Order: sequence, then C-alpha cells, then structure tokens
Amino acid sequence: MTILHLDSSITGEASVSRRLSAAIVDQLTARDPDAGVVRRDLVASPLSHLTLGGSGDADVLDEFLAADTVVIGAPMYNFSVASQLKAWIDRIAVAGKTFRYTERGPEGLAGGKRVIVAISRGGFYTPDHAFEHVESYLTAMFNFIGVEPEFVHANGVNVEREAGIAGGLAEVEALAA
Ligand SMILES: Cc1cc2nc3c(=O)[nH]c(=O)nc-3n(C[C@H](O)[C@H](O)[C@H](O)COP(=O)(O)O)c2cc1C
Repeated sequence: MTILHLDSSITGEASVSRRLSAAIVDQLTARDPDAGVVRRDLVASPLSHLTLGGSGDADVLDEFLAADTVVIGAPMYNFSVASQLKAWIDRIAVAGKTFRYTERGPEGLAGGKRVIVAISRGGFYTPDHAFEHVESYLTAMFNFIGVEPEFVHANGVNVEREAGIAGGLAEVEALAA
C-alpha cells in the first residue's frame, strides 16, 4: 500500500491537523508495516497558484494517482481550506485524469482510493453550518472525482483546545474499528 501524507497547516509544531494526520498515518503503518509513505508538506514546499499556462507540477497528479490511501491535514482558515491545500486540489482536478464529462453528466475517475481528512477548527460547526467550507467543500470535490472521503475532526480548539484534540484523536482511534 502506498500512503500519500499531505499537510497544509501554517502553525508548525502547534498544529492540531498535523498532529491528527500523523496519528492517522501511524495507525495505518502499524496495521501495514510494509506500507510506503510519500510525504508532501504543502507549507514547507508550497505549490504556486494555478495558472492557465501550467507550472510543471504533473508529478503532483501522478503522486495522487499512485496512492492507495491519501491522508490530508486540513485546518480551517477563514472558514475554508488553507490556500496551500487549494493549490494542491487545483493540480489533481484534471479533466480526463480524475474526472470526465459524459452525456450523463460528470463522472469521477479516481475511485478506489481511500481519502482520510483530518480537520481542525477553532470553533464548532455542523456539516450544514453556513460558514463551514472545509468538510463541505472537500466532500464535494472528492465526490466529483469519484472518492468518498472520510473525516476526523478536532472542533473548538480555540475554545477548549485539549478537549478538541482529544475528540479528534478519539475519531482517529475509531477509524481502526
Ligand atoms: C489564519 C487563521 C484563520 C482562522 N480562521 C478560522 C475560522 O474561520 N474559523 C474557525 O473556526 N477557526 C479559525 N481559525 C482557527 C483554526 O481553525 C484552528 O486554530 C485550527 O486548529 C487550525 O489548524 P492547525 O492547528 O492545524 O493549524 C483560524 C486560525 C488561523 C491561524
């Protein structure tokens, strides 16, 4: 199994989403010690904004396509995903590679992967909260390319940090069940 481990938090050692994504990768590799882990830190090595001319980032798409499991650390910044993560999504949403348009509408081509997203948010949000554009956006985006993502959440970390982290780690534990 090949695991692609992505992080997009700008808060370094203090990052909750990085802690959760690392816990998920630890859990996966404990269950499958032969798994290979490909690491992409979207803050340490940021991708540029998407441009029409392209920027020679085909390896980003190849890396995604080659992965069996993708683990993503996704902090909420200003109610949405980090712009570093958005730049990565802009590289993997490619017509003819991860989706195509048919007479019956759009069809995802990236099915068969497991995608697990570790969300960390300062406040509390229900999935249908008007300001929630992390889980809702990532669900729509991955569904569009044929993947049903799984989520773990650290909620309210700006309110009760330790309780939020504990809740997220409990959801990581539950993934193994
Ligand atoms: C620049 C910035 C913007 C933020 N915007 C929001 C926000 O819109 N809503 C929210 O609930 N929390 C917000 N927060 C709090 C973060 O979601 C919270 O600190 C979370 O743990 C971030 O993930 P990280 O610890 O992996 O960086 C923001 C934090 C930062 C640094």
